[in-house]
Amino acid sequence: MAPTKSGSWRSRRDEAPSGTVSRMTATALRSKDLLGIEALAAEEIALLLDTAESMRRIGERQIKKVPALRGRMVVNLFFEASTRTRFSFETAEKWLSADSLNFEAKGSSVEKGETLLDTARNLEAMSPDLIVIRHQTPGVPHFLARNLKAGVVNAGDGAHEHPTQALLDALTIRRRLGRIAGLRVAITGDLAHSRVVRSNIWLLTKMGARVVVCAPPTLMPPRIAEMGVEATTDFDAALEGADVVMMLRMQLERSGTSLFPSAREYFKRYGLTTARLARAKPEAIVMHPGPMNRGVEIASDVADSPRSVILEQVSNGVAVRMAVLYLLATGHVWEGEKDS
Ligand code: CP
Repeated sequence: MAPTKSGSWRSRRDEAPSGTVSRMTATALRSKDLLGIEALAAEEIALLLDTAESMRRIGERQIKKVPALRGRMVVNLFFEASTRTRFSFETAEKWLSADSLNFEAKGSSVEKGETLLDTARNLEAMSPDLIVIRHQTPGVPHFLARNLKAGVVNAGDGAHEHPTQALLDALTIRRRLGRIAGLRVAITGDLAHSRVVRSNIWLLTKMGARVVVCAPPTLMPPRIAEMGVEATTDFDAALEGADVVMMLRMQLERSGTSLFPSAREYFKRYGLTTARLARAKPEAIVMHPGPMNRGVEIASDVADSPRSVILEQVSNGVAVRMAVLYLLATGHVWEGEKDS
């Protein structure tokens, strides 16, 4: 086990449901930033998931607030549209009693030509502990992390990574199926434009899952199999024996319909219907990061069926973001109520 910069790894009792991949858990994250899953060790992922599991309990209480981050400030810097991620970070900050500053490019001095770095440096001059950023350009969170003292959290950078989405997906899988290791996870959709697929591949393979990715040839990233996954254009084959069926959004705003004949044609070949879902295991769960295109990548009756955990993913997103904010802001493990 490798030594860490800011925290040692030690064996500690796993609070997660039985069957969790590893009983070795880190006691801190190594970096001041969460920029992606690629750089995380499996032990750090386990720490984040275990912390999120504890944080879920705060959301189940009548008074959903603990003073764990009282006096800390988080800037939410959103340059791209978001519903789930943005409101989930804001909810996490409120439940942990952190102060939030919410920035949207529209209506800011970005419209007068201020650069990204100048904007970030001016906000940093107000002494935030953490900056959460979503940006349409891959690598922007990494650029800010190199240039700012505050910790930076990647809330989605172009088609690169969306680490908190992969963590909330993993928490949802672990809670529903009791483990991640050994599961067959089929991820299907617009892989070429998806940051969610990249973060999920990194996370699921590090945690011991078998991942099969599926897309039409025009939406299949070249060399994706080098990430340690099976790649296929045959949706029925991808679904065969799957424990988890993860559908991804057709990113119509990025590709239009130029990469497949029509939305109707896409649904016929790659849309998840009840009949198709029968190829997966009987207890398989259906996931989607949202926003969904009903009738394009997923049939409405499947999205709303008892097999669907799509809204659980959203609820688990708050707990995951609480865990990320807490671990980065404090630098130590959450010990439950005595830390609040
Ligand atoms: N899943 C996700 O990132 O959704 P939003 O774009 O609404 O944040």
